[in-house]
Amino acid sequence: MSVVDARIARRPDAPGLFAALAPMDGVTDWVYRDLLTRMHGGDSGISLCVSEFVRVTRSVVVPKVILRHCPEVETGGRTAAGVPVFVQILGGQPEPMAGTAIRCVEMGAPGIDINFGCPSKTVNGSDGGATILQCPQRLEAITAAVRRAVPESIPVTVKIRLGWENAEHVEDIVRSIEQGGATWLTIHGRTRMQGYRPPVDWSSIGRAREAVRIPVVANGDLNTVADVEACRRVSGCTAFMIGRGSMGRPRLFRQLRGHRDPELDAAWLCARLREYVRSILATGGSEGVALGRSKQWLRLAAPASPIYEGLFTALKRSKELSTFLAGLTPPGMPEPPTQFVAQAP
Ligand SMILES: Cc1cc2nc3c(=O)[nH]c(=O)nc-3n(C[C@H](O)[C@H](O)[C@H](O)COP(=O)(O)O)c2cc1C
Repeated sequence: MSVVDARIARRPDAPGLFAALAPMDGVTDWVYRDLLTRMHGGDSGISLCVSEFVRVTRSVVVPKVILRHCPEVETGGRTAAGVPVFVQILGGQPEPMAGTAIRCVEMGAPGIDINFGCPSKTVNGSDGGATILQCPQRLEAITAAVRRAVPESIPVTVKIRLGWENAEHVEDIVRSIEQGGATWLTIHGRTRMQGYRPPVDWSSIGRAREAVRIPVVANGDLNTVADVEACRRVSGCTAFMIGRGSMGRPRLFRQLRGHRDPELDAAWLCARLREYVRSILATGGSEGVALGRSKQWLRLAAPASPIYEGLFTALKRSKELSTFLAGLTPPGMPEPPTQFVAQAP
């Protein structure tokens, strides 16, 4: 087995449940990935992680930037608990995208994910993310360039939305990505114009799934076991990616596998947030970064429970990390014990 083969990640169409942790810029950094995948002694239920996006403009991205987004490339492309982490790249030019993909793989990435879903005005305005969905030929050209650049055994996956304005052309979009040689596809069931507004459209993910032979991973508003079951029924997908739902319910990945963990546990979540802060500081992050990222975690967890909502409302204006941490205790509960600091990969 070659070094590259040893890195191979589980495919979404392999037997059993595939449940990936979604990339979320500004919060699912390596510390978050480490914390979540180490839960329950490494039996977290998470099949795969994807890094926050690495922005590719005119030239190949330098190793320092790749390492900042995905330090796991130095530890076999896996988190400490052994879950593979694909490096996500975002850009509109085939050549620097391909060059960056090669560099990521040479540095140790077990897979490359291409972001054609980012709705940010700044990113779209500089020819990246969801803007490329408007031109299927470009989706194909960029995917094909990245696919050709990296060894065949390394998956090249693509993450998209249903379309720019509406979901009418989703079949053309996914066929062009399949034609470009993607190994599998993840679809967030919203359009670019929709942003994050409801409703999520799992049935158009189903139409897309039927239009291609490559596996399709469903994504969007999968916040509970019941949501995943409903999405499976509506879309026909058997592989899922979960983002915001992981913030309030990090045990969702295990619950999907039949574990009877408590649905919500505020003391436990506060302990995870404290660990998150400590680990960011212990590995050179500033107090400002730790404060910003942990507020973002709490903001995204808030819809899961009135307790988290209350904590977020109370703490969202904290200007100092110490104030934030002092308030991070659910009502009526003693400060939870804290146990470990994440190991820098
Ligand atoms: C704060 C935030 C940051 C995100 N950053 C990324 C990113 O870097 N790359 C990406 O492909 N998607 C990104 N997404 C989109 C998510 O991966 C996911 O597709 C979306 O949140 C829908 O899934 P969910 O309902 O499970 O959260 C981001 C979403 C949020 C809320």
